[in-house]
Amino acid sequence: MTQSNANLLGALSSIHSSNPFAFAKPLAVAVLSASLLMGCGSDDDNDNTSSVVADAEDTALAFDATDYTTVNVTVDGESVAVRQYRIVYVANPLAAGSSSTRFGQPLEITDPYTFQTMIVSVPESALEDQQTALYFMVNNGGWFNSPVATDVSDGAEFVSDSDTDNVGAALKAGYVLVDVGTRSRGARGVNGDWIGKAPAPVVDAKAAIRYLRLNDAAMPGSAERIVVTGTSGGGGLTSAVAASGNSADYLPFLSAIGAAGVTGADDTLASTINDDVFAAVAYCPINNLGNADAGYEWQYNAIRSDDNTGALNGVAYSEGPQPAASSAIAAMFPDYLAGLGLTNADGTALTADTINDETVAFLKEEIERQIAAGTAVPAFGENFEVTQRGTTYSIPNDWLTLNGSGTTATVAEIDFEKFLTFVTTPISLKTVVAFDAGAVTGNPSISGETNLFGSDSYEYSNFIEWSWNNNEVQADGSGPDDTGMEWDEYIASEYGSELATQLKLINPLEYLGTDADTAPYWYVRHGMIDRDTAFAMQTLLYQAIRNDDSVQDVNFAFPYLVPHSGNYDVQEAFSWIADTLAAANSAE
Ligand code: DHB
Repeated sequence: MTQSNANLLGALSSIHSSNPFAFAKPLAVAVLSASLLMGCGSDDDNDNTSSVVADAEDTALAFDATDYTTVNVTVDGESVAVRQYRIVYVANPLAAGSSSTRFGQPLEITDPYTFQTMIVSVPESALEDQQTALYFMVNNGGWFNSPVATDVSDGAEFVSDSDTDNVGAALKAGYVLVDVGTRSRGARGVNGDWIGKAPAPVVDAKAAIRYLRLNDAAMPGSAERIVVTGTSGGGGLTSAVAASGNSADYLPFLSAIGAAGVTGADDTLASTINDDVFAAVAYCPINNLGNADAGYEWQYNAIRSDDNTGALNGVAYSEGPQPAASSAIAAMFPDYLAGLGLTNADGTALTADTINDETVAFLKEEIERQIAAGTAVPAFGENFEVTQRGTTYSIPNDWLTLNGSGTTATVAEIDFEKFLTFVTTPISLKTVVAFDAGAVTGNPSISGETNLFGSDSYEYSNFIEWSWNNNEVQADGSGPDDTGMEWDEYIASEYGSELATQLKLINPLEYLGTDADTAPYWYVRHGMIDRDTAFAMQTLLYQAIRNDDSVQDVNFAFPYLVPHSGNYDVQEAFSWIADTLAAANSAE
């Protein structure tokens, strides 16, 4: 046996012994739920009933209305009592181990079930309100695990009229606030297993939603009015959850953790509870990770240089493997895009030939909106004042030409390539490879999202073709060196099916435009100077949402001179939420 085959078999045996893809459900529960189900009929994939079948796990997940603490906060200086519930939302939670990390730092685990706990905060005005929205916050920045936490703590002060205090706005609106913990990368079990691998964060968020649906009658607010929100990794998670409502693809994973409303086992898995949501509010969603590298290099390849791209392992951009990698990865994007078969609003195909025009149209719309609102947008040759990571830069406008002046000026022309260089003047691009960054191009660290993927017994797995085929680290379980297989063979094989499933289940693009029950309302923002993912990836997400027949409204913008961030437009977002709720309520 060759060394690489030995490694592969080692990887596979551990996959079969300890991974969530084994879909095991405790036998006693499986037998019990199967017997309870007899005679109940079965649901098809996307037509789940909302009636509750009394399965043992669901019984264990009954909401206890008496188990709360009262937290006193102020909103606009007025005191507000908030009833707060801390809830483990699955019947078989996974205990967090002390080797878990977040943003590279050790995570202190004080509650073993922190990753599968939510904190539900009910302002007193909502205690008797069965109609109000559930403002459901995911917090997996960096696509890292999210130990549960809340800003709603005793003595906290909020305001309802600021553009940055979303919690204050939600309390004032009388929504029920839900802070959700989830597994994701960096999460480890007590035995050291990597328990947060994809699709864990999506599965956990869905499990929390299922808990809210199971207990909707007993809890304040309406689980038919869930507004999922998050930023960056959290925006990506928001988009995956909101796109894939009620998809049966997640049932094996939901079953494994004892999520509400999942019955049967293996071939008889069925759902008795829905997990679709009402609305998504996603900021700079780092979404579609399997194709984000292709989009990034396709967008930025022509303008990468030593000025805006860092060295890797001491080797300058232009001196090392990054340019060739960038070109090879960029070349994947046009076919990927064309294969999606999406159309632009004018009926033309969304392709590599049209997507930049779509992005530019959104830039133009936003700049004209700012001009009309009185923002002083510099004329060609004048300076933009741009703040990135706390530092303000004056950067000459060499990309935007205006017609006229004052609040009636319009955009005459945008030089998109110069715009991209402008974006990367105060902040460097991610190095190549941007997302599947680990174990390639001399990168000495495990960075990017590489450790969101792979089996629970390996720290990471390369997840795009180029990185897989160019993996540089022996015995890490990734690449032809360890498996004997190039990407195409691997990902189509039984061995690669786990990774293929992971990539699918965290990707909203895989569910938009399918028979999954996509959220009907979307509010998506990506700052105009945000280089964390390509503009093209966000324009693509927008078009995929718009192309989905079940979507009623998608409100999308690249906010003016906004960097990688979220919740900077709280008044606008909350008036959109209020209008959306009112429109849906009056349509019923
Ligand atoms: C985040 C930023 C990234 O660049 C990324 O790839 C994933 C997540 C974040 O800020 O959450």
